[in-house]
Amino acid sequence: MALRKIVLAASAVMGSAWALSTEDMLAAPRRSTANVNPSGEIALFSSTRYNWTTHKSKTTWHILDIASGNITDAPFDSAVSEVVWVGPVNTSILYINETNEEVPGGVTLWTADVRDFAPTLVASLNAPFAGLKAVQTKSGNINFVVNTKAYWNNGSAYNEELASKPLSSGGLYDNTFVRHWNEYITHERFSIFSGVLTAEKANATGSGKLSFNGKVKNLLWGINATVTRPETPVQPFGDQGDYDISPDGKTVAFLTKSPHLSKANYTASYIYLVPHDGSEVAVPVNGPNTSAPKTAQGASGYPRWSPDGTKLAYGQQDGIYYESDRFKLYVATVDGLKSEVKSVAEDWDSTPSGLAWGPEGHLYVASELNAMNRLWVVPYEAEASYKPENFTGEDTYVSDFSVLPDGSVLVSAASGWTSRMFYVQKPGSDKKVLFTANEVDPELAGLQENSTTYFWFQNKDGDNIQTFVFLPTDFDPAKKYPLAFIVHGGPQVAQGDNWSTRWNLRLWADQGFVVTTVQFTGTPSYGQEFTDKIANNWGGTPYTDLEEAFEYMRKNIPYIDTDNAIAAGASYGAFMMNWIQGHALGKKFKAIVSHDGKLSQRGAYATEELWFIQKDQNGTVWDNPENYALWDPLDYVGNFTTPQFIVHNDLDYRVVVSDGVMLFNILQSRGVPSRFLHFPDEGHWVLNRENSLLWHKYIFNWIRYYTGQDKELIQDPVIKQ
Ligand SMILES: *[C@@H]1O[C@H](CO)[C@@H](O)[C@H](O)[C@H]1NC(C)=O
Ligand SMILES: *[C@@H]1O[C@H](CO)[C@@H](O)[C@H](O)[C@H]1NC(C)=O
Ligand SMILES: *[C@@H]1O[C@H](CO)[C@@H](O)[C@H](O)[C@H]1NC(C)=O
Ligand SMILES: *[C@@H]1O[C@H](CO)[C@@H](O)[C@H](O)[C@H]1NC(C)=O
Ligand SMILES: *[C@@H]1O[C@H](CO)[C@@H](O)[C@H](O)[C@H]1NC(C)=O
Ligand SMILES: *[C@@H]1O[C@H](CO)[C@@H](O)[C@H](O)[C@H]1NC(C)=O
Ligand SMILES: *[C@@H]1O[C@H](CO)[C@@H](O)[C@H](O)[C@H]1NC(C)=O
Ligand SMILES: *[C@@H]1O[C@H](CO)[C@@H](O)[C@H](O)[C@H]1NC(C)=O
Ligand SMILES: *[C@@H]1O[C@H](CO)[C@@H](O)[C@H](O)[C@H]1NC(C)=O
Ligand SMILES: *[C@@H]1O[C@H](CO)[C@@H](O)[C@H](O)[C@H]1NC(C)=O
Ligand SMILES: *[C@@H]1O[C@H](CO)[C@@H](O)[C@H](O)[C@H]1NC(C)=O
Ligand SMILES: *[C@@H]1O[C@H](CO)[C@@H](O)[C@H](O)[C@H]1NC(C)=O
Repeated sequence: MALRKIVLAASAVMGSAWALSTEDMLAAPRRSTANVNPSGEIALFSSTRYNWTTHKSKTTWHILDIASGNITDAPFDSAVSEVVWVGPVNTSILYINETNEEVPGGVTLWTADVRDFAPTLVASLNAPFAGLKAVQTKSGNINFVVNTKAYWNNGSAYNEELASKPLSSGGLYDNTFVRHWNEYITHERFSIFSGVLTAEKANATGSGKLSFNGKVKNLLWGINATVTRPETPVQPFGDQGDYDISPDGKTVAFLTKSPHLSKANYTASYIYLVPHDGSEVAVPVNGPNTSAPKTAQGASGYPRWSPDGTKLAYGQQDGIYYESDRFKLYVATVDGLKSEVKSVAEDWDSTPSGLAWGPEGHLYVASELNAMNRLWVVPYEAEASYKPENFTGEDTYVSDFSVLPDGSVLVSAASGWTSRMFYVQKPGSDKKVLFTANEVDPELAGLQENSTTYFWFQNKDGDNIQTFVFLPTDFDPAKKYPLAFIVHGGPQVAQGDNWSTRWNLRLWADQGFVVTTVQFTGTPSYGQEFTDKIANNWGGTPYTDLEEAFEYMRKNIPYIDTDNAIAAGASYGAFMMNWIQGHALGKKFKAIVSHDGKLSQRGAYATEELWFIQKDQNGTVWDNPENYALWDPLDYVGNFTTPQFIVHNDLDYRVVVSDGVMLFNILQSRGVPSRFLHFPDEGHWVLNRENSLLWHKYIFNWIRYYTGQDKELIQDPVIKQ
């Protein structure tokens, strides 16, 4: 490992040692967040490492001792896909084993004690169930909920390996979506299913032997859907965070999109309550004709039961088709399937992304501030004017957290210089770091906290704009470094000091650059008003912010060589690459990289989530065609002269591949140096590690070539005509 680093360093023009190589970044352990046991003493996490010799990844499980920070290997292997803490003692677990010897495509449930591991097979499930949640009831039974796809006609679990194959591959649609993210819509919908592991000879400590009658019940079945069939988890990114079982095991709360609105052009989703035994049809907590405020119409999230089971906390947006509206907090008082909703700290100008109940009726809330996800404490009865304060800082990006019995939290976090950090922090106290990957993983050796910094400037509208800066290994402020000017996607997605395996800006820095990412107008986490300014403004203020940021660096940061700069971006960032190509800023870069970006704004309806384009363009393409024409890069292709590297993938149904092909055809026809990298098996993101290795190899060569750091462009294996 070390040898390869030295060899690579010798070829780097800047003469600096490289801490991070592409192979290392991609192979290094990817650790899950920590899953804490009921007593708050230990936590389980998984770790997946890739091997470039075998071209395979391997997952291992580990136990973190929270008091000492000691980490030991868990007594089970990668057959285990998920674990929940439930059972008679604090070290009891119930887990999903991904293999099932009886049913192809099925899974099995097992119980065990992590301290004294002698697992017992307790249930065979006949489909690829995931998303396990479970509680032990007073009787000693374990009530669980899992999810998988369900047949449209009878709601039973769908197992692709056992399903009869249709004779024709045709799919006929009468309404949208036709496809979403990277899949075509089929008949089946994800549903949650409940089941009971019955305790024989159970007593108060609930340690009786468990048995399973083989029956699971679809808890979404029977909801009156006039337009959109219910689906939990909500696709494409939903998971078990979309549902929760009450502590007594009797009631399940879950999230699904509005059954009365088109899912392609509205974001609205509601929380429902349903008996765990499925004896009644689910009823909504929020949305039309409920006790929730009439202003709350948009997407809901993260339903969480209070420890005493009398309340349910959740978040919801107001805007019915605005995915970047802020989430507000609500608490419903629940009695059976009846609920009464009240808002919490309603005026808080922040956008919570998750919560947990802490002691004394406090909600512990995760929400971004200045591009960093942080933790906040909010009393559940907080009045509208209550102003929560962050108790974690700007040095880590919170991925997940659990409240410990003493009111402190175990945080799973990351940052630009460490792929995983576990720490304990009590509100009002300093954090105690238990683990940080950069000190353990040989692949990350040499990464330092001080390799990320930021600066602010005021834009022409008087808004303060933050820019993050990533420095290479052995950075020397007396030297001048080529600039990699990254424009983030979204546009309503912040890009701060966080770890990424797709756009790892610390890795980009180690190609011999200072890397910057400007949190331009429209970026979330700087107040809702700032985010909302993106409407009808895609090539407007964000573009002038980027121009101003570039000029600020030229004048004020001596170690950045703005005369030797490249620009790169994905998604909205790639739209912006196409926009700057046609405008003055594009001429300041030696080369551009665009990944899965739009060339034609008028072609926006080739996407799937129509709410997004209709909100951001402030209307439809028929009522407001001028808004779609306003910032259309296609109108400026006559100005394109800067060398451009294009990536576009077939399974990207969000920004369609024809935009990338069109862009390449235009650049080639105009004689502008350009390359097109295409993956038939990737969507909006390149996820496969072998594909990602290729992606990095060609892109890094492109930007190093145009900044004079590589002598030539890689010619092998270019596809010749
Ligand atoms: C990768 O696999 C090869 C072949 O099995 C093995 O020799 C090597 O030790 C593995 N590398 C790592 C980092 O585990
Ligand atoms: C932590 O691990 C070390 C080395 O394995 C051991 O010596 C020490 O006793 C452990 N500490 C605790 C609190 O478990
Ligand atoms: C679990 O841990 C808590 C806190 O240490 C303790 O009070 C409780 O008795 C433990 N429960 C069992 C069943 O051991
Ligand atoms: C998973 O299930 C297989 C049988 O399908 C069994 O051989 C294996 O021991 C199980 N592993 C664990 C950790 O439960
Ligand atoms: C549900 O419908 C599917 C498709 O028609 C069928 O294959 C399956 O056997 C049905 N399941 C039950 C439990 O009726
Ligand atoms: C509960 O059941 C367990 C195992 O079945 C047994 O060891 C224990 O003594 C029982 N406790 C009581 C209070 O009956
Ligand atoms: C379903 O909902 C629609 C619209 O709210 C309503 O008109 C219809 O009567 C409902 N059907 C049933 C069976 O409740
Ligand atoms: C939303 O979708 C529905 C069903 O496809 C359609 O009737 C309606 O006109 C759409 N609304 C907008 C604003 O596009
Ligand atoms: C909360 O965030 C602010 C702004 O970044 C920071 O200055 C402050 O230190 C943070 N508070 C804590 C307790 O970390
Ligand atoms: C970062 O910290 C390391 C170790 O303390 C130090 O050697 C290095 O010079 C620092 N780098 C910068 C850019 O300050
Ligand atoms: C959006 O359109 C509405 C009218 O349809 C108008 O009042 C509003 O000013 C527009 N907003 C933007 C940002 O263009
Ligand atoms: C780009 O093109 C437009 C019209 O096609 C022209 O007015 C403008 O000056 C050009 N801008 C640059 C930077 O070349």
